[in-house]
Amino acid sequence: MFNLLKPLNPTWPDWRDRRIWLVGASSGIGAALAKALVVHGARVAISARNQLQLAQIAAGHPQVTVLPMDATDPAAWANAHATLQAGWGGLDLVVFCAAEYRPERAWEIEAGQVRHTLDVNIASVYYGLEAILPTLIAQHHGNVALIASVAGYMGLPTATVYGPSKAALINLAELLYCDLKPKGIGVYLINPGFVKTRLTARNAFAMPALQTADEAAAAILAGIARGRFEVDFPRRFTRILQLVRLLPYRWRFSLINRALGLS
Ligand SMILES: NC(=O)c1ccc[n+]([C@@H]2O[C@H](COP(=O)([O-])OP(=O)(O)OC[C@H]3O[C@@H](n4cnc5c(N)ncnc54)[C@H](OP(=O)(O)O)[C@@H]3O)[C@@H](O)[C@H]2O)c1
Repeated sequence: MFNLLKPLNPTWPDWRDRRIWLVGASSGIGAALAKALVVHGARVAISARNQLQLAQIAAGHPQVTVLPMDATDPAAWANAHATLQAGWGGLDLVVFCAAEYRPERAWEIEAGQVRHTLDVNIASVYYGLEAILPTLIAQHHGNVALIASVAGYMGLPTATVYGPSKAALINLAELLYCDLKPKGIGVYLINPGFVKTRLTARNAFAMPALQTADEAAAAILAGIARGRFEVDFPRRFTRILQLVRLLPYRWRFSLINRALGLS
C-alpha cells in the first residue's frame, strides 16, 4: 500500500554542516540559495563561469568554496567534483541551476542559439550526473535537485527553446526519481514561476506573481526541507498553470493566446 502522507524524498530538519554544491550560482536564484544556505549554517560550493561574481558571493564566508566552471564542459564537472570529494569527502545535495534563456518566436530560431541553450539547460545536467552519480550511488547517499520551470508544463510562445528544455528536465527528474530512489538518492524537481533575475530581465511582458530571488530561494529550501518531489511556487500561480495543462487543447490554446495577447 502507498503511504500517501510519507514525503517522497528525505526531509531536512536543518541545513547545518550539509555539503551543498550549487551549479549556476553567480547570480539570481543560485546566488540567493547560496546566501540563504550560509545563513542556515551549510557548507556551500558555488560554480558558474563568472569568477568575479562567485568571489563576491563568497567574500567573508569561509564555509563557501568557489569552483568556477563552464557546466557545458564534461571535464570541468569531473574536475570540480574530484576537488569537492577531496575537500568534503562527500556531497549531500547538488542543485542544477545553470540556464540560458532568450525570448524568441518560432520564426526567430537560430541554430547556434538553439545548440547553446540546449547545451546549458539540458546537456550540462547529464554531464553533471555522469560525474557525480557513480560516487553518490556507491555511497548510497546524496540528493540532486533540478531547477526546471513552469515553462516546461506546456508549450508557451516566446519560450521556443527554453520551454522544451525545461519540459525535458521535468521528464528527466521523473525518471531519475524512479532510478535513484531505490539507490538511496533523493531527486527534487524545482518548478519556479516568474522570478526577478537577469534571466527574466529579457521579458518584455508583464510577469504575473513575480517573486524576488530571495523569496524563490526560501521557497526552494522550504520545499526540499519538507521532502517534496516537485517544489513549485508561488502556488497561487503554479496551481492555475497545472489546471490549464489539464484542459483539452482547443481551450488551452485559446486561453494561452488570449493571456499572451496573441489573438
Ligand atoms: N527567473 C525565473 O523566472 C525562473 C523561472 C523558472 C525557472 N528558472 C530557472 O532558475 C535557474 C536560475 O535562473 P535565474 O533566474 O537565477 O537566472 P540567472 O540569474 O541568469 O542565473 C543563471 C545562472 O546560470 C549560470 N550559467 C549560465 N551558463 C552557464 C554555464 N555554461 N556554465 C555554468 N554556469 C552557467 C550563470 O552564471 P555565469 O553566467 O557566471 O556562468 C548564472 O549563475 C535556471 O535554471 C532557470 O531556468 C528561473
